[in-house]
Amino acid sequence: MKRVLLIIGGGIAAYKCLDLIRRLGERGIAVRCVMTKAAQAFVTPLAVGAVSNARVATDLLDLEGEREIGHIRLARDADLVVVAPATADLLARMAQGHADDLATAVLLATRAPVLVAPAMNPAMWSHRATRRNVALLAADSVHVIGPNAGEMAEKGEAGVGRMAEVAELVARIETLLGAGAREGGFGFLAVSDTRTARPAACSLLLAGRHVLVTSGPTHEPIDPVRYIANRSSGKQGHAIAAAAHRLGARVTLVSGPVEIADPAGVEVRHVETAREMLAAVEAALPADVAIFAAAVADWRVAAPGNGKIKKAAGAPPPALELVENPDILRAIAKRGPRRPTLVIGFAAETQDVVAQAAAKRKAKGADWIVANDVSEASGVFGADRNRVHVLTADGVEDWPDLDKSEVADALLRRAGAFLSRDTV
Ligand SMILES: Cc1cc2nc3c(=O)[nH]c(=O)nc-3n(C[C@H](O)[C@H](O)[C@H](O)COP(=O)(O)O)c2cc1C
Repeated sequence: MKRVLLIIGGGIAAYKCLDLIRRLGERGIAVRCVMTKAAQAFVTPLAVGAVSNARVATDLLDLEGEREIGHIRLARDADLVVVAPATADLLARMAQGHADDLATAVLLATRAPVLVAPAMNPAMWSHRATRRNVALLAADSVHVIGPNAGEMAEKGEAGVGRMAEVAELVARIETLLGAGAREGGFGFLAVSDTRTARPAACSLLLAGRHVLVTSGPTHEPIDPVRYIANRSSGKQGHAIAAAAHRLGARVTLVSGPVEIADPAGVEVRHVETAREMLAAVEAALPADVAIFAAAVADWRVAAPGNGKIKKAAGAPPPALELVENPDILRAIAKRGPRRPTLVIGFAAETQDVVAQAAAKRKAKGADWIVANDVSEASGVFGADRNRVHVLTADGVEDWPDLDKSEVADALLRRAGAFLSRDTV
């Protein structure tokens, strides 16, 4: 019998948990409940205990409760932990790793997958603090369902903030239990992953999806032996392709000339120039997600020499006339038919990073822009770490300094959640 630990937060939607417990019980899933202090103001432990047919845990520092079934055992005995409703405050405490009440202590101690069902007023949901917390949780391998758009419990309020419906929750819980729980919970580092400090991939969030990624620099020939290039190493783009593969996607990586190995399990098209890259990208469509991490040269030499341009004694150096390269991000983001559902561009800037990236998002028609500072002082080019800002229609998220593979994981999880409209 599969075991779900249901953590009930203090929101109006708490009453829906009684139905959720019942529906899970009908499917042969055992449910134990933890209620926050605030949750008990909305539904009583007595009602929850009666429906779940088990003692409800409410206190961390309760001698009796701790002796009967301690917080570590509660955490350990679950195949899946579900937080519903997940209040804004509970999401914030989770994101910060608090453990000052039973709910958060259990969440920190569990190695089971965690699913949260946020429910709150639309203004609270769209607040940047909540967006940031949800992004952090997604990066920590937490599954997010909802919230949905619709009427709020408060009279006259509507928007995105309603907890996912019980039927949706049951379906997602069954999927997660079926996908084989115990793959690693919220923020839990599987032993094999501790070296890279990467959260364990805990679901095939992108199964059935096609993810197209560009990576590396382009080389624009001056003549058969010389070219114009840039300092992109391809590490971030290749990490993104690898992360998409780990999350179950079919991945096409269009790579400029790089010195790093092709990621395993990914179809790689090697190209040299911007025009070749665009052609390879076009040929790889359709895709659900297209992520343009390559540093494509803005210009190419108008008329590259057919033979090596020779230096002649006393002659002036050759003048190179440049022409503009195709704008791959713009071409794909603004295309009508076969436009990927989610188009993500990268903006490598050396000053006014966020402002430049915001302008780029608008001008190019990208859904999201991942912006980073590539000034010499930042040391990003060729490095293993990256500090990015993610610009979406909802605003700007400033991500902490992360390993490039962690940036990749977090970005792909967010993309997966976007595709299933788990988060807005
Ligand atoms: C009537 C009422 C309804 C509330 N509904 C919600 C809600 O739906 N979502 C939410 O995030 N907070 C809601 N709150 C605020 C939370 O109850 C409050 O932030 C509380 O500290 C959450 O505690 P918990 O996260 O430990 O359950 C509500 C408060 C009141 C008084």
